[in-house]
Amino acid sequence: MKKILTFTDLHMRDEGQTIIGLDPYRQFQDGLAHALENHSDADHVILMGDLANSGKTSEYERVRKALADCPLPVTFMAGNHDNRENMRVVFGDLPTTDQGHLQRVVDLGSNRIITLDSLDGPPFRNDFHNGVLCEHRLAWLENVLQNSTDKRVCVFIHHGAFKIGLDGLDAIRLCNDTEFIRLLRRYPCVEHLCCGHIHRSISGSAQGLGFTVFKSTCHQMPLILGAGYDSMSVAEPAAYGVVLFLDDAIIVHSEDWPVSIHDAQHQPDVLPE
Ligand SMILES: [Fe+2]
Repeated sequence: MKKILTFTDLHMRDEGQTIIGLDPYRQFQDGLAHALENHSDADHVILMGDLANSGKTSEYERVRKALADCPLPVTFMAGNHDNRENMRVVFGDLPTTDQGHLQRVVDLGSNRIITLDSLDGPPFRNDFHNGVLCEHRLAWLENVLQNSTDKRVCVFIHHGAFKIGLDGLDAIRLCNDTEFIRLLRRYPCVEHLCCGHIHRSISGSAQGLGFTVFKSTCHQMPLILGAGYDSMSVAEPAAYGVVLFLDDAIIVHSEDWPVSIHDAQHQPDVLPE
């Protein structure tokens, strides 16, 4: 078995700055510590984009500081709040495509993890949160898929590549979602898709491909179907993901660590006989 830990939408801010009263640094630090304590056998960590709230180097430096004692290899993905150049300044020489996009392949035994870069246009604009996979990123992906037929593939992308019924979030999904999923569906080696961006636990299938969306490590999106806002936030328990690559299945868990059974204050009641 192989196991990876996923964290998305950290939205790191400078010291003393919060989001709806939550401290993004403390949130991520607590979640990472919980995951490492309870999953010391994990093989890899993926940070699935929106690592910073405003794409600033000072915010990425706080992410790096929180990762200081992490013993596992880490993959850094970009989301709509990120700045690729600042990420490379702080996190070092991250793997990129020839065009400079933060896309990479991680092989864990016969499993292939493909992480994509759906950040569109300029590094960060407060008024533009859609994602896109341009022709270069799609061509890179297709080339990797053509060489992955002997692997079991799980694809990670920050933006949701499907409508979920929340109008505000549907408006800022991956622009070319249909084209992207069609490409994945042409390759039977692709078994699952994982996304962030929406700040909710969601699962389903898109054009027949199963997907999972993870909660943020900080603030969450309330379930208000239909017309609403894309920036509503609530302080529901945060979560990280635990993805298991078993012999015959890919299993995706979401662990809401503030209410985890692993913590002493939440020991199960013992029923009287
Ligand atoms: Fe996002």
